[in-house]
Amino acid sequence: MSKINIAIDGHSGCGKSSTAKAVAKALGYKFIDTGAMYRAITLYFLEHDIDITDEQAVKAALENISIDFQHNPESQKNETFLNEQNVEEEIRGMRVTHKVSNVAALKQVRVAMVAQQQAMGKEKGVVMDGRDIGSVVFPDAELKVFMTASTEVRAKRRQLELREKGQEVALDEIIKNLEERDRIDSTREEGPLLKVADAVAVDTSEMKFEDQVQKVLNLAQQKIEA
Ligand code: DC
Repeated sequence: MSKINIAIDGHSGCGKSSTAKAVAKALGYKFIDTGAMYRAITLYFLEHDIDITDEQAVKAALENISIDFQHNPESQKNETFLNEQNVEEEIRGMRVTHKVSNVAALKQVRVAMVAQQQAMGKEKGVVMDGRDIGSVVFPDAELKVFMTASTEVRAKRRQLELREKGQEVALDEIIKNLEERDRIDSTREEGPLLKVADAVAVDTSEMKFEDQVQKVLNLAQQKIEA
């Protein structure tokens, strides 16, 4: 059976990554969390005090960054590696979360990431989640999904995720961060978050996780059989 590429875009914290991961597992496809790539770059910039308004410094930093994913059989997770160091935990914390949208808005950063992402999907059989996958990375993806959920639902889910990792963050702070990231992600010049005309909209506010996975799997099956 021929393989397809699946692009899952949408707002921060609406369950794109978990859905994409479950869909990839069910289909035996590769899952790529592009947000993790922007987060890893942000971590590098923070650790090396890179001034993001200095184009030369950003260019030089990008030349020193290598990002890859490795599957951890114990946690059953695809973990993110920055220059061969496992940064999976660190990139999910609020320090990186507060800065990532500003870093992801930089043209140089996007050009470098989009090229890597396109290379990862060349052979098809990829489920990739992000903001610009259906519009920029894979405009020819066989299936494009645009996921969203109400801000409150997204914030509560994020709070639970952080709590499970031992971080207690007030709901107000999470809501403010989500709204700010949505604003920056949607209004930037390069690869802004938008729903392309051929994407199927899925609002997960009232959906159970299993149902949102099944919905995407059904859509994928139709495309695979087409
Ligand atoms: O999906 P996430 O919350 O982990 O993404 C982190 C940030 O990275 C988010 O604020 C927007 C940005 N991002 C992006 O600009 N383009 C992508 N393809 C993926 C993420």
